[in-house]
Amino acid sequence: SLINRLFNASQAEIKLAKKLKIARAIIVPGDADLQERVSILMGEKLNSALDLLLPLGSSIITVLGGATLAKASKVLSSSLSKNRDLEFVPGRGALGESVETQSSTIVQEMAKATGGKYKTLYLPENVSKDAYRSLIRDPAISDVLQDISQCDVAIHGIGLAEDMAKRRGYDSVALSRIRATGAVSECFGCFFDENGKMIERIPRIGLQFEDLSKIPHIFAFAGGHSKAKAISSYMHNAPSQTWLITDEGASDLILKGQ
Ligand code: BG6
Repeated sequence: SLINRLFNASQAEIKLAKKLKIARAIIVPGDADLQERVSILMGEKLNSALDLLLPLGSSIITVLGGATLAKASKVLSSSLSKNRDLEFVPGRGALGESVETQSSTIVQEMAKATGGKYKTLYLPENVSKDAYRSLIRDPAISDVLQDISQCDVAIHGIGLAEDMAKRRGYDSVALSRIRATGAVSECFGCFFDENGKMIERIPRIGLQFEDLSKIPHIFAFAGGHSKAKAISSYMHNAPSQTWLITDEGASDLILKGQ
């Protein structure tokens, strides 16, 4: 395809994208679980991909957060902003997580690295239905939600179900439920099993899984052998325009069918 030729895709990358039924896979050498520099390499690929795909003029980029994206956020370059007006918005509130991995922190890093603008969303990750209804009427929050709904790009990580359940404060009962139902991955507050079936979700403010399909460009950002099963699990649901940026550690296992 044109996308593969434009980006000089390797055979493994073409195979992986085909297997996961997505537009493009980019595989960097190494294993992010074992080598710190691998996330940096992935970040550089994200930067080139954004440079290739983003139109000139203004773009809104929604960023979801997570440790992997946090490591790569500083690698984005100021050349991305050449003839472009970039605005980074958090795709979710994530108070309760450590500050470094919150989307509001990562958008600030990305804006700093590229010379773009940013907005923040300081909200707890999990909210009750009643709280949700009143919070979305708050002007500052609805302003960010408006930008999210018009965004050109979404960049997200893919989490391990159990780790993410712990990070979201699940108690031991909820944790055993997650294990018993066979949840493998977490993305956008949704837990999926190995066949991609949604098992449960956390009500939250921000980008909803269902809205993803309308976004022109989507980057899934996840690497390391420990993420292989989670990537396969989530990718059953990924919109076809998704690009996966990953490493050999994950892709070798996915291609072997594990
Ligand atoms: C975030 C997503 O971008 O990445 C979460 O919003 C996901 O849903 C998380 O679970 C994974 O983060 P990490 O820390 O494993 O890179």
